[in-house]
Amino acid sequence: MNPEDAYYITTPIYYVNGNPHIGHAYTTVSADALAEYWRMRGAKVRFLTGTDEHGQKVYDAAKERSMEPKAHCDDMVVKWKGMMSQLGIRYDRFIRTTDEDHVKVVRAVLQKLYDEGEIYQDTYTGWYSTSVERFWTEKDLVDGKCPESGQPVQEITETNYFFRMGKYQQQLLDLFESRPDLVRPPSRRNEVLGFLRQPLGDLCISRPKSRMSWGIDLPFDDDFVTYVWFDALLNYLTGTGYHPDRPDDRKPWWPADVQLLGKDILTTHAVYWLTMLMALNVEPPNILFAHGWWVSSDGKKMSKSLGNTIDVDLLAKAFGVDATRYFMLREIAFGADGAFSYDTFLTRYNNDLANDLGNLAHRGLSMTTKWLDAKVPEDSAPGDAEAALRRLATDVVQRFDTGFREVEFQNALEAVMELVGAGNKYIDSQEPWALYREKEMARLQTVKRHVLEICYLAITLLLPVIPDKAAELLAKLGRTPEEATDYLNVVVTRAAESEVGLNGLSVGASVDVGEPLFPRFREMPDSILALFEEPEPEPEPKTQPKPETTSMSDNEDLIEFNDFAKIQLRTGVIRSAEAHPDADRLLVLKVDVGEDQPRTIVAGIRSRFEADDVVGKNVVVVVNLKPAKLRGVVSEGMLLAAGGKQVIDLVSVDAGPGEIVR
Ligand code: ME8
Ligand code: MG
Repeated sequence: MNPEDAYYITTPIYYVNGNPHIGHAYTTVSADALAEYWRMRGAKVRFLTGTDEHGQKVYDAAKERSMEPKAHCDDMVVKWKGMMSQLGIRYDRFIRTTDEDHVKVVRAVLQKLYDEGEIYQDTYTGWYSTSVERFWTEKDLVDGKCPESGQPVQEITETNYFFRMGKYQQQLLDLFESRPDLVRPPSRRNEVLGFLRQPLGDLCISRPKSRMSWGIDLPFDDDFVTYVWFDALLNYLTGTGYHPDRPDDRKPWWPADVQLLGKDILTTHAVYWLTMLMALNVEPPNILFAHGWWVSSDGKKMSKSLGNTIDVDLLAKAFGVDATRYFMLREIAFGADGAFSYDTFLTRYNNDLANDLGNLAHRGLSMTTKWLDAKVPEDSAPGDAEAALRRLATDVVQRFDTGFREVEFQNALEAVMELVGAGNKYIDSQEPWALYREKEMARLQTVKRHVLEICYLAITLLLPVIPDKAAELLAKLGRTPEEATDYLNVVVTRAAESEVGLNGLSVGASVDVGEPLFPRFREMPDSILALFEEPEPEPEPKTQPKPETTSMSDNEDLIEFNDFAKIQLRTGVIRSAEAHPDADRLLVLKVDVGEDQPRTIVAGIRSRFEADDVVGKNVVVVVNLKPAKLRGVVSEGMLLAAGGKQVIDLVSVDAGPGEIVR
């Protein structure tokens, strides 16, 4: 990568079947930092991100909300763009697979590949599971049933269209052989090579509309829509201006410099995507980087479907946008998995940002203000300590640049923090307060100048990662982000050729202490503590089906004992029951829990019980739940019941009303 070149970077396009979370923010912030670094280096940058809107998952999500798929997508896109704008993401295009130009590209590509015999029709027989809406082969089945849902499967003969992916197997292996750096990190390349030890089959690229019609019509058979991945992957070419009739329009952006993805979608990129490009005679990207996952404390991938995610909006509001961006890139090696915890976040924030960086800046600026008239001093008496700092700075700049070239953010940020740490140690060892006392002004000036220069260099390097805070500190040093950008190019060139000078500031320029850049958190912010202390009041009885995506603020798997101990359970007896006047699933019960009056409890148990079935039953009641109105009837508690969407039975204890249950 030469800075004068065009630089094209992409993220996966995200399914709009749920809200964005830390995982999506992670990939997008990573891409943003890279895009910004190369923009600063003078490259012509194009940064593409967006949403994947067709296919079963999104269709189901829309159906769940009783919305038309497109209307659902329009609505969800607002949330995704909102996440990105909150995090300061500066994409050049937000592509949607429902965008007109993309639909045209997909159809033109399909037609071209069909005309060239790369796509063919075939009829095959397989075992179809309606519950998960996919085909299984005989050997996939478990006891003759769907391995995923355990539901019965049907033998179906179906016609579909296939892409001749299998014929590219050897070409793909040769590519990985000649381009060992294409798929990164190396462990992921090995995973793909492992996958390619089996014969590579052809890829089914259609779905009969009779099963699911939310997709792009095949141009040569409108009984079918395009398989969502075949559609989605092409977005990377649409984003360059490519069209199969005008293949050169992909230039100067294609081949992409870096395509980021999570390791969950390695095969679709390293196999489907690369063979699609081969069929189109388009060169592969330079780097496919499959990063690791944010996992919860039990090691599970954070995901929309598990609902175990972290709300980035909350993080950004509690700790700041820049701290959130910094944490994501600094905390885990790009490629490795990492367990998220608020405690690690707090520690990282306090150590790196508040103590190391914030402190260095504060010490540098406040002593300059007190003793040197708040002006950048001259560097008139440098010695060995300063020479050592310059050597370190040179090394740091090289490591930082390598980190961004190789997409290893952690290394790059560790290097900057090493410089910051060295700056703090330098203050401790040079004792500027003693120099001031002894009136050794030339040395005092030299030392303060070096402290300020280290601040300037460190914050210049951090600009792509923490743009707002960097601009703040730059202003205190009398510099603008534009000046810092020029300085970045100067130091990268100097570091490659000889030595970084540590002389980027203007002598005599005013500096300003101002407020601390990253105020220290003595304890966890209240908004985070609230997640643990106040379980969300249940808006509906427990026996109602839970929404698929758990609310973003209700996202911890484990609770403290104290949280559990707040729940008061008591035995009760149902004295009377009637159907809720306004809701099919609800019964309105009078339950005796040993108080003067029976309580009115609205229970979502009609999937299993009618009113007459439950009168006289022993039950267990949550008695300290805030009353809630359910379809117009106030419910003063909740029954415990077994089962998910489908109620199996009420929890029952063989005792009269009013006994404590613990
Ligand atoms: O797969 N940790 O979309 P998607 C880190 N539409 N990154 C994570 C993550 C986690 N826990 N969870 C999600 C799709 N991601 C397809 C892609 S591309 C042509 C089509 C990030 O909404 C990561 O980048 O499931 C992952 O690959 C992506 O979100 C998947 O998003
Ligand atoms: Mg996924």
